[in-house]
Amino acid sequence: DDFARSGYEHYMMKEMMEQPQVAEQLIGGHLDERHGTTRLPDLNLSPRELRSFRRVKILGCGSAYYVGQMGAQMIAEIARIPADAEAASEFRYRAPLIEADTLYIVVSQSGETADTAFAVEEIKRKGGYVVGVINAVGSTIARAVDGRVYIHAGAEVAVASTKALTNMAIVFAMIAVEMGRVHDLSLIDGRRLVAGIAALPGKITQIIENRDLLDPLALTLSQASSIYYIGRVRGYPVASEGAQKMKEISYIHAESYQTSELKHGPLALVSPEMPTVAFIPDDELTDRNIAAAEQIMARQGPLVAFTHAGVDLSGLDAQTYVVPKSEPELDPILLTIPMQLLAYKVAVLLGHDVDKPRNLAKSVTVE
Ligand code: AGP
Repeated sequence: DDFARSGYEHYMMKEMMEQPQVAEQLIGGHLDERHGTTRLPDLNLSPRELRSFRRVKILGCGSAYYVGQMGAQMIAEIARIPADAEAASEFRYRAPLIEADTLYIVVSQSGETADTAFAVEEIKRKGGYVVGVINAVGSTIARAVDGRVYIHAGAEVAVASTKALTNMAIVFAMIAVEMGRVHDLSLIDGRRLVAGIAALPGKITQIIENRDLLDPLALTLSQASSIYYIGRVRGYPVASEGAQKMKEISYIHAESYQTSELKHGPLALVSPEMPTVAFIPDDELTDRNIAAAEQIMARQGPLVAFTHAGVDLSGLDAQTYVVPKSEPELDPILLTIPMQLLAYKVAVLLGHDVDKPRNLAKSVTVE
């Protein structure tokens, strides 16, 4: 067993450490730097067919759903096609309209999640075109879909998904660029994003190598019984995934909100006992995010801030962690990785069974 964990104490740590390498493996061969696009032939879609979709709907469960939200934002922003994500578990029960000009994308590590498989069934019954972003080759969902992109993350054992999520997010970046290049994305922006994707593995390595910088932040959070995670637009799915990871393995209650929603309710609970993990990336919303963090400070809420170099947080009384910058559209991919490490560190501090959290299964094959 120790051999299988490559000497690490937990599979989760081993799998987080593998991220630069599996990301590299995924990206290799899929990028066309000269034409500023990607190559995803297994989607089974010609450029003309790819161009014909007017909307994108992404479906997945749990963390795969949150990565789907990141993907929807990337597709909307990069390809300028309306896109959204939805929990696959709800989909078939709300009498969804299946439209011929919508590209349906299901996301699943295991390829065996029953709720996601049922969503595929519902889409196909009503004549929709559905592709999969999947890890397990030859799995139920991989066989059911019309086209697929394998994420090549290798076997994932820990219940808390890490490397698979990162590679799913990278696949969404590639789908966004590919769809963008048959729509309105310029050659120059295509090249900028392709170069940004190619640079991700090196930046992931940096985060992993500097993981001990998260120790004091983990210590703060390990003492809480409830944590807010807040972000906006690109940062919001990162907050949701961060809160999910924390809940899954540390058993600390964690809840995500759009930073913009704070004043509409959640601020009521901010106190010295209730820390907030705040995403303050270097983007067009930096000032708004700092203003919200000040509101939390004014109520003595402990702040743990994730930001980029160059963002001036000196006015905030916050424990700060600086995440390597990529292209703004791709930033969520890198922001998510310290969330995994943070949850892991808190769970270890609290002495929990990191790889097999209570009440959860690696793959949920019943409804
Ligand atoms: C991830 O940490 C979770 N254990 C869980 O939310 C998972 O992502 C979800 O059940 C979907 O699984 P899948 O990707 O295998 O379909």
